[in-house]
Amino acid sequence: MHTPTSVIAMQRVAIVDPAESSRESLRTLLLGVDFVWLEAECARYEYFFDVVQQQETMPDLAIVALDADKNKALHMIGELSSKFPKLPILTISHDHQALLQSLQRGAKYFLTHPVGLEDMLAALRRSLGESSGHLGDQPSFGGMTRQQGPTQMIAVLGSRGGVGTTSLSVNLAATLSTDPNNSVALVDLDLALGDADIAMDVNGMDNISIADLARNIERLDMNFLRRALVRHEGTGLSILRHPMEIQEIGILHEGHIERILNLLKMSYSHLILDLSKSLLPTDMMALRMADTILLTAQLELSSLRNVVRLIHLLGSEDNLAEKVRVVINRVGSDTVEEGISMKKAEEVIGKPIFWQIPNDPKALIAARIAGEPLVRHNPKCRVQLAIVGLAQALAGKPAGPAAADPRVKSSWSLFGRK
Ligand SMILES: Nc1ncnc2c1ncn2[C@@H]1O[C@H](COP(=O)(O)OP(=O)(O)O)[C@@H](O)[C@H]1O
Ligand SMILES: [Mg+2]
Repeated sequence: MHTPTSVIAMQRVAIVDPAESSRESLRTLLLGVDFVWLEAECARYEYFFDVVQQQETMPDLAIVALDADKNKALHMIGELSSKFPKLPILTISHDHQALLQSLQRGAKYFLTHPVGLEDMLAALRRSLGESSGHLGDQPSFGGMTRQQGPTQMIAVLGSRGGVGTTSLSVNLAATLSTDPNNSVALVDLDLALGDADIAMDVNGMDNISIADLARNIERLDMNFLRRALVRHEGTGLSILRHPMEIQEIGILHEGHIERILNLLKMSYSHLILDLSKSLLPTDMMALRMADTILLTAQLELSSLRNVVRLIHLLGSEDNLAEKVRVVINRVGSDTVEEGISMKKAEEVIGKPIFWQIPNDPKALIAARIAGEPLVRHNPKCRVQLAIVGLAQALAGKPAGPAAADPRVKSSWSLFGRK
């Protein structure tokens, strides 16, 4: 088991709920959130004011369950918000009327009972984000730092088998995770035949895979999710592996992927998704959720033709084509190039080539045998340098127009293949 470096500051929360069973489930829910520190728990509305006041520093969030006694709860919220106007209050109830009244009394957020983990996470994150000013004055908790901006989700899609999708996913993820400001997870969504774990040599451990997460999706919490991610020691990269048995892939549907990725977004600054070539519903979900789609190709006919077909398909799906950045891999290889120039490839695709990665089988094979990403095994090799450049280009503006990006030009001249 390991602990991924959380990129979110700890959020100190105080709760009040006189009903024991719902207080219990609220506590369980909050304990599953790795950036929440449950500072105080109170069973009486009358005492909550004192509980909050007695804390050394004001909690970052007060959660008030209204249903045990709405009138008492609303009265208390009125007092609390007038005495501590800076304390954000989140209310929970079955009763929409009561929730509205709580907002009038000074509550800032509300959730309808019963509360699911994702709703709670969204509310916690919103309140954490909005109060960042006042949180920023406080010492950080356990050395954790706040996430700067939203999570970048990058899906890597191949235009055919063997084109370098996994190599790109693994090495890009490992490169990003060497920056101490990033926390990166690589998710192997090539569910049947994925091999990202081999490329990174992370075997053994708990053997919890994405299929186990799907099986437990209803009671999935941060702790369980954390146990499923294996950590690569050399880089700190976390990996969520494909199912151990191929027959398990039937368990996984797109709803699972949506939920798992949403939960991962809470803890990671970057998610790299290594997709299958089958465009399954699980792949399509990942493509919809991604901020950027790296479409990997080589300078040969079947690959380029599939790039065109894939862009066409993605264009018909919620304009997913806009997120596509074409990456040409193995540039300079005699075996894959059929006299197709980069310029010709761009004409065929109808889109600029976003990045080029040179051919270097020796470096790739040696790293693979070592079970290490290039950034560890051969950080100076040309493939790694190109991937560093790609990571920087993606950090600049993930959804910006590729043609306007001067760094694209520099990579062109770097390998001089125009
Ligand atoms: N830039 C590169 N230069 C040389 N060989 C490469 C390069 N990128 C990938 N390869 C090799 O191509 C093969 C297929 O790569 P892989 O990443 O597994 O593709 P995919 O995931 O698309 O099937 C691997 O043997 C890998 O080492
Ligand atoms: Mg692969």
